[in-house]
Amino acid sequence: MKLTRPDLLPLLRCPACGTALREVEDSRLGCTGRDHHFPLAEGRPILLVDAALEPPKRNDVISAQAHGREGTERKGLRRVLDRFRQATTADIFADDRRQVPLLVDRIAALTGERGWVLDVGACEQYYRSSLERLGPLIAMDISLYSATDVVGDCHALPFADASLFAVSAIEVLEHLRRPWRFMGEVARVLQPGGLFFGVVPQYAPTHGFPHDFFRYTRGGLAALAEDAGLELHEAWPLGGRWGTLLHWYWANWARESRLHRIPGLNLAHHLGFQGVAWLFDRLDAAAEHGARPLPQEHNDHVGWSFIVRKPARS
Ligand SMILES: C[S@@+](CC[C@H](N)C(=O)[O-])C[C@H]1O[C@@H](n2cnc3c(N)ncnc32)[C@H](O)[C@@H]1O
Ligand SMILES: [Zn+2]
Repeated sequence: MKLTRPDLLPLLRCPACGTALREVEDSRLGCTGRDHHFPLAEGRPILLVDAALEPPKRNDVISAQAHGREGTERKGLRRVLDRFRQATTADIFADDRRQVPLLVDRIAALTGERGWVLDVGACEQYYRSSLERLGPLIAMDISLYSATDVVGDCHALPFADASLFAVSAIEVLEHLRRPWRFMGEVARVLQPGGLFFGVVPQYAPTHGFPHDFFRYTRGGLAALAEDAGLELHEAWPLGGRWGTLLHWYWANWARESRLHRIPGLNLAHHLGFQGVAWLFDRLDAAAEHGARPLPQEHNDHVGWSFIVRKPARS
């Protein structure tokens, strides 16, 4: 089995010793420093220092969801409901379908540059076409999905110093055990003037058990960036207070209550609670932005999208 992305080889580095990698024999990469070896799985390199920590696997549930998203829409009332859900959740929650294209627009307005973009914790990369506007894309995850180019761990990025134009982490920072170590790695692999961007939750129910570690305020993002020698260019709040309330309600409704399986009640839930939260947040935003600036000390939101910058000269 050969590498599916041989074009990445010059960028890749041994996650154990940082030296260059080469193809040593069928189905393996070897480093040029201390003879560390890494297997390929379906042509993708498994660049984990301790593969036993999280054995790379194809996640069948996520793969099935990806096919579902690419496939045909549902019919009749279900289709209307799906559309309504999509329109309102995109506004209320930190929804990738809305946030990633917005972030890419903001980056395009900030700089005309393009270059290698590493998407960490990429999963099935439903937003791939948006990121591709910024340059050639590398999808990295600690598990093996059909979209994965490289299996790697955020805490030891298997990439050369100053080799990437941008790194993205969409709904990933909350799942990292040592996000400060990841930030240091981002600072290392970004070229001067490079960008790190993503989406993080501030108030979101726990998920992805047992790999759910942190929530972020605007100040927390700025501090993480600063400690790594990076600067928070901007963070945009996602969702208002009604959406935040709904988030918690939604988690309990979906997880704990069996009532949501009754079709009529589910419809009432979506039209009622979700619709009202969406409407109230819009009215709140209109009133607040019109009458007075949003107070800095009351930064309570579902989450944040953000852009962090590496200084042009380091
Ligand atoms: C909530 S999912 C987000 C997936 C995708 N970015 C999205 O928004 O649809 C978090 C992803 O991060 C990955 N992940 C968790 N810890 C990681 C680590 N240490 N290194 C790389 N990926 C990791 C998980 O496997 C998972 O695919
Ligand atoms: Zn090595």
